[in-house]
Amino acid sequence: MKKAKAKTGTTKKSRTRKLSVKSLLTIAQLNAQDVELILDTAGQLKANARRGKTETALRGKVLAAIFEKSSTRTRVSFEAGMYQLGGIMLYLAGRDLQLGRGESLSDTARVLSRYVSGIIIRTDAHRKVVELAKAATVPVINALTDYAHPCQVLADLLTLRERFGKLKRLRLAYVGDSNNVTRSLVFGTAKTGIELAIASPLGFEIDKHAIELSESDRRKSGVGLYLTMDPMQAVANADAVYTDVWVSMGQEKEHAQRIRALKKYQINEKLMARAAPRAIFLHCLPAHRGQEVTEDVIDGKQSVVFEQAENRLHVQKAILKLLLEKGK
Ligand code: CP
Ligand code: NVA
Repeated sequence: MKKAKAKTGTTKKSRTRKLSVKSLLTIAQLNAQDVELILDTAGQLKANARRGKTETALRGKVLAAIFEKSSTRTRVSFEAGMYQLGGIMLYLAGRDLQLGRGESLSDTARVLSRYVSGIIIRTDAHRKVVELAKAATVPVINALTDYAHPCQVLADLLTLRERFGKLKRLRLAYVGDSNNVTRSLVFGTAKTGIELAIASPLGFEIDKHAIELSESDRRKSGVGLYLTMDPMQAVANADAVYTDVWVSMGQEKEHAQRIRALKKYQINEKLMARAAPRAIFLHCLPAHRGQEVTEDVIDGKQSVVFEQAENRLHVQKAILKLLLEKGK
């Protein structure tokens, strides 16, 4: 150990920290140090941006961005972030690519890997992202699938850390439809030691498999996951209350049935009053005022939804820098 230090002139701590993964598909695949590294790097990039520092880490690099679903935040923050790091992003609507006419994901991945330094993809089935990453020789980043939304939840963790100065032992309540964002919250809170309570109605609960995947992290960090059908119970004394839309992209046909099933799961002032006095309100956006959240809550003093949205930019810049900087 001493010898190595003398040779390289660096200690373990001062050496550049690296992610343990080549691609970012779900938070479940990261380790706790990866999450910490992404948040630390994002915090640094945010502070640098505030000071007007020019970043050049990705100078000359190109990111291919395949979108098979709509997006405002993810698309714009990835594109702005890439530019701010010295590179560019190519927006590729799925239907305009040969992918839309049946070219395989694997051939698309192999071709794009010859042109660009990284690929992001927003699509429906999670297996598509997995297939793309398997065939690509460059890093692939999940920009949302029906299964997971890792970039969103990493930005949420940054927001919580900035607000409370720590993550360990915070109490987060999620109320509503158990979806891609919820699943990523299950993984992200387990990695960072946040206690999570989820309130969803029958038929809209989080899947057992996601819970099982997060169990060893939760045991390590010593915090619980509580599942209930009662929103009041979930938010009792919570430091943060989170919700998402009741009808996710691709579920439009189930609109009426979902609104009916979830109507008692709205975040309103009465529910927020059950949370801790300094509790914050989180929503990944886009929001439907009057459905999953009332206007007075989302536009009220406890709401940090626009900080959350801004943090998408800083976190994604961190992910891009960490995954793409050393690549081709
Ligand atoms: N939160 C989020 O991913 O927003 P967009 O759908 O606008 O990208
Ligand atoms: N659950 C939502 C998140 C949108 C950012 C959806 O998948 O449509």
